[in-house]
Amino acid sequence: MRMNRREFLQTGAAVTGTAIFMGLGASTLFGAGNATRLIRSSIETVTLNNGVKMPILGFGTLYLRDEPGERCVADAISLGYRLLDTATIYGNEDAVGAGIKRSGVDREELFVTSKVWVDDSGYEETKRAFETSLNKLDLEYLDLYLIHRPRGDVHGSWKAMEELYKEGKIKAIGVSNFTAAQIQDLMDNFSVIPAVNQIETHAFFQQPDELEFLNQHNIKHQAWSPFAQGRNGYFTNETLGEIGEKYGKTNAQVALRWHYQRGIITIPRTSQKEHMMENVNIFDFELSEPEMQKIASLDLNKTQFPEWE
Ligand SMILES: NC(=O)c1ccc[n+]([C@@H]2O[C@H](COP(=O)([O-])OP(=O)(O)OC[C@H]3O[C@@H](n4cnc5c(N)ncnc54)[C@H](OP(=O)(O)O)[C@@H]3O)[C@@H](O)[C@H]2O)c1
Repeated sequence: MRMNRREFLQTGAAVTGTAIFMGLGASTLFGAGNATRLIRSSIETVTLNNGVKMPILGFGTLYLRDEPGERCVADAISLGYRLLDTATIYGNEDAVGAGIKRSGVDREELFVTSKVWVDDSGYEETKRAFETSLNKLDLEYLDLYLIHRPRGDVHGSWKAMEELYKEGKIKAIGVSNFTAAQIQDLMDNFSVIPAVNQIETHAFFQQPDELEFLNQHNIKHQAWSPFAQGRNGYFTNETLGEIGEKYGKTNAQVALRWHYQRGIITIPRTSQKEHMMENVNIFDFELSEPEMQKIASLDLNKTQFPEWE
């Protein structure tokens, strides 16, 4: 079955491989099996601790700014992505908002995350920063708003976010780069438990203890830099490559599938349509337990971004 663009946009993210390859003109990038087999990029959702549904795979937008950023966001949405991850500090909320408009997809179909930066920590500051983010994105509400880093007046920020959440201006609130102890502190002092903790997580920094803590408290683990931005030879890693060969998948796809099987939400970023397509095409194979273990053995248990510490 082939769908034209209009039908595709109307039916959400259920698309055929054929339709996507017509759009991309890049069938040589993927195995013939992938190109001809019917694939569904309809992305599964997870249910957050307040009942809100969130796609388990989305689109990261760090460094994607201005018109090229806008185009990337529109392309990603047209290929089936529904979760978009931005932040005040990325300087691209306006481009993300413009990309959403350009895509033609209804706002209600999308899940938009932004984050309050450390300079805006505190009650009044967070309220102001939130309004600025909404205006830049040109949206009426956010699906998820995160404290970007645990710095400054975290309690003041969380109080403001709880109020915005209760007013319906944010569907869910959460944190990013928080330790278990910092999350415990919020749980001890406030009524709304964070829905998500977005932290650095990839094959070289797997965060198993954080994952266990978050699972125990029904808080979703979201990975930032699921490819470690390609550092440490991620895309040429032999272990990921050997596993991928068996399924006709790339290192990127094996990595994203591994995150998915751990129950972790990912937001890979790419500026290339071919990679957008590749990164969403991970739902038609399954890693075995020994393969999951092999990838677990790649853990170096340290950040690949020491400059951000
Ligand atoms: N909360 C936080 O503190 C925090 C921190 C960092 C990031 N984040 C969020 O997490 C998102 C993802 O992390 P990230 O942007 O740092 O890095 P990433 O997603 O780990 O890696 C992005 C890099 O991977 C390349 N890439 C993507 N798909 C590929 C594929 N299939 N094959 C080969 N190369 C591929 C991209 O290059 P091409 O463009 O050439 O494809 C780009 O250079 C961010 O965009 C942001 O939304 C949050």
